[in-house]
Amino acid sequence: MSDAPEITPEGVEAAVADALAAIAAAPDTAALKAARAAHAGEGSPLAAFNAQMRSVPKERKAEFGKLVGQARGQVTHALAAREEELASAELSARLEAERIDITAVASRTRTGARHPLTLLQEQIGDIFVGMGWEIAEGPELEHEWFNFDALNFDEDHPARQMQDTFFVDPVERHLVMRTHTSPVQVRSLLERDLPVYVICPGRVYRTDEFDATHLPVFTQFEGLVVDKGITMAHLKGTLDHVARQLFGAEAKTRLRTNYFPFTEPSAELDLWHPTFKGGARWIEWGGCGMVNPNVLRAAGIDPEVYSGFAFGMGVERTLMFRSDVKDMRDMAEGDVRFSEQFGMVV
Ligand code: PHE
Repeated sequence: MSDAPEITPEGVEAAVADALAAIAAAPDTAALKAARAAHAGEGSPLAAFNAQMRSVPKERKAEFGKLVGQARGQVTHALAAREEELASAELSARLEAERIDITAVASRTRTGARHPLTLLQEQIGDIFVGMGWEIAEGPELEHEWFNFDALNFDEDHPARQMQDTFFVDPVERHLVMRTHTSPVQVRSLLERDLPVYVICPGRVYRTDEFDATHLPVFTQFEGLVVDKGITMAHLKGTLDHVARQLFGAEAKTRLRTNYFPFTEPSAELDLWHPTFKGGARWIEWGGCGMVNPNVLRAAGIDPEVYSGFAFGMGVERTLMFRSDVKDMRDMAEGDVRFSEQFGMVV
């Protein structure tokens, strides 16, 4: 005889009750697997009762068979039901964890883009780089010497006076917000080996009104060439090329005599285009001239050997004519609706 327990209705009932309690208490499929092994597996009390069937007297076989069979059926059934319950709960939990809410509001953070003035400065730079020139830079807070003296401005030149120039406290330090990009001419000549071919786009400051055609802070691009044998024909040819690159093949330039302390001869530079607003006409674009020998001397260059030309134009004016902007203040105020019209170039 085996040492298996005797089959009694109470014993079977107790085994079933234990099994059902363990099954109901299993928190997950792993725990249920353990409950299955303990209560329905080979070493389980019910399996032992089943094995015991062999030694049950013939006349009671049917009775005990039914008892044990039903008990095992009940446990198997409970296991299957709990299994399904746990599997479905686990699936829901997983689906919840991996959920992507496709109804969520998409991120509408707007991508920034560069300002039309920045874009134009870069396009201008590219035109010159395409001719082999270099981009030069200088500080916006400039020493008076670079902004005026080295550029051959007299001590009492009117542009030095307070009405045009932002002097920076304390005045004894002789610092100004540069009033033009021309100080970069001198800096370039002092810093670079000859010959010099540079373009300098940059911000400048004047005590101007803030109106449709003036900004107290605006942008210029300064060109400077110093080499042997440079003539005014080189200046004119360069300006025509740049005008055509920026405004199209029909654009023309013309020079009118003018005065700047740092160029001699000096000229006012006008630009013509057939499709300008208001018809084909000349508009004032900037200043230019042959580098004054005094400027070359201030930079330690012998004007008998070297000559050069320089020019300076307003980037805001260029943008105004090129894109038919009516009010310069739109370029300064930072309303994105203005900038968007020039494309969202990053
Ligand atoms: N710096 C001058 C201005 O701001 C322009 C200029 C540049 C003129 C170079 C001649 C040569 O008005």
